[in-house]
Amino acid sequence: MKGILLAGGSGTRLHPITQATSKQLLPVYDKPMVYYPLSTLLLSGIRDIMIISTPADLPQFKRLLGDGSRFGVKFTFAEQPSPDGLAQAFLIAREWLQGEACALALGDNLIHGEHLSVLLRAAAARPEGATVFACQVRDPERYGVVSFDDTGRALEIIEKPAVPDSNWAVIGLYFYDKRVSDIATTIKPSARGELEITDLNQVYLQEGTLHVERLGRGTAWLDAGTPDSLMQAATFVQTIQSRQGMLVGSPEEVAFRKGFIDADQLRTLSRQLGKTELGRVLAELADHHPVGHS
Ligand code: G1P
Repeated sequence: MKGILLAGGSGTRLHPITQATSKQLLPVYDKPMVYYPLSTLLLSGIRDIMIISTPADLPQFKRLLGDGSRFGVKFTFAEQPSPDGLAQAFLIAREWLQGEACALALGDNLIHGEHLSVLLRAAAARPEGATVFACQVRDPERYGVVSFDDTGRALEIIEKPAVPDSNWAVIGLYFYDKRVSDIATTIKPSARGELEITDLNQVYLQEGTLHVERLGRGTAWLDAGTPDSLMQAATFVQTIQSRQGMLVGSPEEVAFRKGFIDADQLRTLSRQLGKTELGRVLAELADHHPVGHS
């Protein structure tokens, strides 16, 4: 399975902060925002990743991330000339995908929780259909919202409904089978002129192959697209890391625990981080933890 990390958009809800820089490069406490969804893709076992951003921002992503070899993975970079919706990612990536199954992670979504890697690996391994994850939120009207019948079967997903049927929001992490690019070509722009990821999910839902995984209290889902949610995400990461001494959203750590890189490579990465706390924690991990323990 391949993965797409979508880091485009104009970040208008964060203006003027994002007038001269990409939203997904802003700091979430001690790391660039894009590190969090990147860690999620690596945690899913995905090692072949396309990073999509605007023509203006793509060079900065290349500078930050390189070719992926330091995380033991491969990055390919592609431009999204104009922000025409999330489902457009599969049109941009179509040739590169070569008919393979693919996950999509949105560059401003952070998920953290117990047993997440088990759920992610299961989603990545599902040969047919698609998998989305839903979390309960207080403000569902900001998101794609999924409703369920009495037996818990997903009925419908609606993008930013004025009056939501449930408080289950679909998070920005999606797993699709190999038909995804073909299905994306059939999506028509919505009323706001975008190729909606919700419409793509709705195709799978209607054919009965959409797996909706509800995430409970053990999982935190945050997005960082507004000043308040950016601040909340940073505070969350700071709180967990300083209280537990465990990292949130470190692709270096995930790559090491997954066995994509060895202890020496992790030591090199930690040295590059200089005297930061992040560098110290990674150096300690390289010295004391066996590979493959996640
Ligand atoms: C997008 C999707 C929405 C999803 C959300 C998750 O919204 O369209 O369905 O719930 O991401 O973050 P956007 O943030 O682009 O408005």
